[in-house]
Amino acid sequence: MVNVRWQQVWSAKGAAVQPQRAPDASTLGVLMELGGYTSPTAAGALSAYERHFRYVRDSLSIGADDSVYEVGCGGGALLYWLHDQCARVGGADFAAPLVEHARAALPSSGDLVHADAAGIEAEPRYDVVLSNGVFLYFESAEYARTVTELMIAKATRSIGIFDVNDLARREEALAMRQAAQRERGLDYSGLDQLFLPREFFTAIASEHGLTCRIDDTATTDSANAAYRYQVTMHR
Ligand SMILES: C[S@@+](CC[C@H](N)C(=O)[O-])C[C@H]1O[C@@H](n2cnc3c(N)ncnc32)[C@H](O)[C@@H]1O
Repeated sequence: MVNVRWQQVWSAKGAAVQPQRAPDASTLGVLMELGGYTSPTAAGALSAYERHFRYVRDSLSIGADDSVYEVGCGGGALLYWLHDQCARVGGADFAAPLVEHARAALPSSGDLVHADAAGIEAEPRYDVVLSNGVFLYFESAEYARTVTELMIAKATRSIGIFDVNDLARREEALAMRQAAQRERGLDYSGLDQLFLPREFFTAIASEHGLTCRIDDTATTDSANAAYRYQVTMHR
């Protein structure tokens, strides 16, 4: 089942800003803002996230000939950063207004769709299928398993699931999140996040005969970094 409250939050974020008519030098910054990169617990600095984006690209060995699909692409910040470093990008997000931003920023991609992550189609397949900063908004581990298996079916080579909340550090992460919200006078009560153990992904990879690597977060300036991990799987 989809987490409707998070869907409303992300849709409202996308609807608050008009999609750009044509991409320009400000586009990446606008899309980063729409992707929540400037929230109280995120780093806010573009350079910190470029380090993370480079890590995403390199951990999946994304090169000029590769097609890349993103589940939960939002306004397309990561896809926009990647699009001229690979052959083709596509993606899906459950917040329709954000998909409009992604389409405006990436007019040459004909595969940016409004869809719930558990509703993505296996076809067309892509070399790499990834999801960045999305699994934490899922309703349950069961939903996360469904999406992971769809991503595996859609990928001909590699799968990446980035910024997963680590179940082993849940209490510390919640305390940090609450303190950050208090400091900013925000109230996110009722907007819960999902935490998953690292074994959740190693087990699924093993069932599918994939190699699986899990890294701590390399982007150290984000308050969230210490509580999140990065998953890559390869055929
Ligand atoms: C932190 S933003 C990241 C956006 C993008 N991945 C990036 O890196 O720029 C999280 C995104 O996940 C999307 N999302 C969360 N749950 C989803 C779901 N169940 N199905 C599809 N999209 C989802 C939100 O709409 C939002 O765009």
